[in-house]
Amino acid sequence: MTQFTKRVFSGIQPSGKIHLGNYLGAIQKFVLLQDDESFENIYCVVDMHAITVAQEPKILRERTLEVTAAYLAAGVDPAKSIIFNQSRVAAHAELGWIFNCVARLGWLNRMTQFKDKAGKNSERMSVGLYAYPNLMAADILLYNATHVPVGDDQKQHLELCRDIAQKFNNDYADEIKELGFGEQFFCLTEPLIDFGNKPVRVMNLRDGTKKMSSSAESDMTRINMNDDSDTLAKKLKKAKTDPDALPSEVAGLEGRPEARNLVSIFAALDDSDNQTVLNQFGGQQFREFKTALIDLAVAKIGPIGDEMNRLMKDEAHINQVLKDGAERARVLAEPLVQDVKKIVGFMV
Ligand code: TYM
Repeated sequence: MTQFTKRVFSGIQPSGKIHLGNYLGAIQKFVLLQDDESFENIYCVVDMHAITVAQEPKILRERTLEVTAAYLAAGVDPAKSIIFNQSRVAAHAELGWIFNCVARLGWLNRMTQFKDKAGKNSERMSVGLYAYPNLMAADILLYNATHVPVGDDQKQHLELCRDIAQKFNNDYADEIKELGFGEQFFCLTEPLIDFGNKPVRVMNLRDGTKKMSSSAESDMTRINMNDDSDTLAKKLKKAKTDPDALPSEVAGLEGRPEARNLVSIFAALDDSDNQTVLNQFGGQQFREFKTALIDLAVAKIGPIGDEMNRLMKDEAHINQVLKDGAERARVLAEPLVQDVKKIVGFMV
């Protein structure tokens, strides 16, 4: 078995407001992982993914700054992690193309996220949106990232990434051996989804059966990371609940999606777990629980939002972080893509 360096890669699209789902499902995990010195960490703002659906160019720039500001404000540290925007490292596009030729149509046809996003309009969607999981596999395998922290909506894409790695390793097994790369060229990446006691999926505040997302029309369905305290309080006060008191045991959250969601958000923000939260609030009405949740959210998210807003005023600084990160990313990515070109038979 080929041994790979322990390396973490993950990314967030700058395609909408950055919200609590992104924070609890992804960014908090990044912060935990960068403190484990056995890992190298690479965190990307995936702007090339964002243009798979129409983007206003000025707003795309603003959102790119905003996602970067969220990384920095939440504690992702450029001294410990590489932070950059995808389009600055051309090797993502190069490997993405090669993977377009490795992945099979049948594999992409199974991707539920494309079906959800395209709905009945698939004929009118961009080719990029359809092929997007191949680019995502390229993002990861360009660094041979062994671990990828994400929310559970990305699980299927990570399975596809493993399929692409496996097929490439098999299809080019002879060349990989001949060129001295050992048994496997690409690693089979491990998803880090259920990790560090964080909810794998933060749900919509108005409908606990849907995930919290930046594309939901109403802003009341999500908590944006730079909402001010009044907005945070208003959204949580109006969050949907059910008529019963909170249960005392986790099993009592079964079939109560809104209750489960609010309890999980509390637990994640408080660094505890659902049962500990229910030990404190079981038997109480939502009104009291929500008051405590609002205080906690304001205490934990408020300072991150303030720091994001402060950082956003200094565009030059954020851009410098991204530029420096891109330089460091290129040092890793370019030799790998050169090796891939040799393996597939391109003249280099
Ligand atoms: P994106 O931009 O939709 O989401 C970024 C990250 O946030 C997580 N997330 C959530 N987690 C919990 N609950 C939610 N409601 C919620 N909403 C979003 C996502 O799971 C993700 O971890 N395809 C990716 C971006 C990407 C990527 C990559 C990720 C491109 N290349 C390589 C990892 C590795 C995406 O669209 O995530």
